[in-house]
Amino acid sequence: QNPINILAFESSCDETSVAVVQDGKTILSNIIATQIKSHQRFGGVVPEVASRHHVEQIIHCTQLALQEAHIKYEQLAAVAVTYGPGLVGSLLVGLMAAKAVSWAHDLPLIGVNHLAGHIYAANLVKSLQYPALALVVSGGHTELVRVSAPGQFHILGDTRDDAVGEAYDKVGRLLGVKYPAGKTLDQWAHEGQDTYDFPRAMLQEDNLDFSFSGIKSAVINTLHHAQQIGAPINKKDVATSFQNDVLDILVTKTKRALAQYPCAQLIVAGGVAANSGLRERLTAELTPQVELIFPPLRLCGDNAAMIGAYAAVAYQQRNFSDLTLNADPSLDF
Ligand code: KG4
Ligand code: ZN
Repeated sequence: QNPINILAFESSCDETSVAVVQDGKTILSNIIATQIKSHQRFGGVVPEVASRHHVEQIIHCTQLALQEAHIKYEQLAAVAVTYGPGLVGSLLVGLMAAKAVSWAHDLPLIGVNHLAGHIYAANLVKSLQYPALALVVSGGHTELVRVSAPGQFHILGDTRDDAVGEAYDKVGRLLGVKYPAGKTLDQWAHEGQDTYDFPRAMLQEDNLDFSFSGIKSAVINTLHHAQQIGAPINKKDVATSFQNDVLDILVTKTKRALAQYPCAQLIVAGGVAANSGLRERLTAELTPQVELIFPPLRLCGDNAAMIGAYAAVAYQQRNFSDLTLNADPSLDF
């Protein structure tokens, strides 16, 4: 049987990425052009700037992805693209590129949900077993998702306000850390002491939802208060206290979900899955109860290989889109 080579595009936020993935399992190439430097001075992603960068990068990334994979258009089985959720202008650039390739080379088009991509990044390192539970933690999402069968997703819990990565970036900004702040705060958290008491929102409530805006406000109040009375602030201690808080919430709710919906595997997905404290705590508290899958760091952040990984499932199910496929900024499962 011929290998199924899928050309995948991801441009939902501030990374332009194009990959070639074989059989949903083997990454032949995964080109990622990051725009972080252009957004840093604004302290977050500026949508208009992001779209323009995608336009500049996407053709070059496509050529590189095919070159590196040693794959010609004739050897492709399909073209996949993230169509949501994300920034509409950014999504449209990837969509236009994917549609152009699909039309010009008569290849089936596969629209992929960005979150399904984050979850199926795990399938690039280990074969998923169903039902699996996924904790999706990124700059835009904090969700507990049950994957009952290939491509069957059920949201068990969601954030009521900020996403966890967003909370890291906002707290980081208050502490003068460059965007994206998660990695630095994670480092600081290991170097400071847990001296500040921030609220652990919704921990006692009997549900699987999250809330992080209260913690962010508590950090703001603490910093304001210290400034008013001229007290020094130990930024590393703030980071430690903040991270312990966030991890308590994420770990508690994940354990609760597993108790309610037993699963053989726990997939931790999205940019915040890079968090070392989260990896340590989940490993310590959940093995050997479940098999934990943490995709390698380069597959945790936004990348097109994860889109190609999920696209293989859609391909098997003949779940194709036509050229009317549009961007859906608030796409859900
Ligand atoms: O998945 P991703 O690359 O983009 C989105 O789809 O949002 O996630 C980026 C987010 C940022 O908010 C960044 O601060 C956060 O992931 N992040 C981390 C760490 N590394 C990246 N947050 C906590 N700890 C980390 N080590
Ligand atoms: Zn993402």
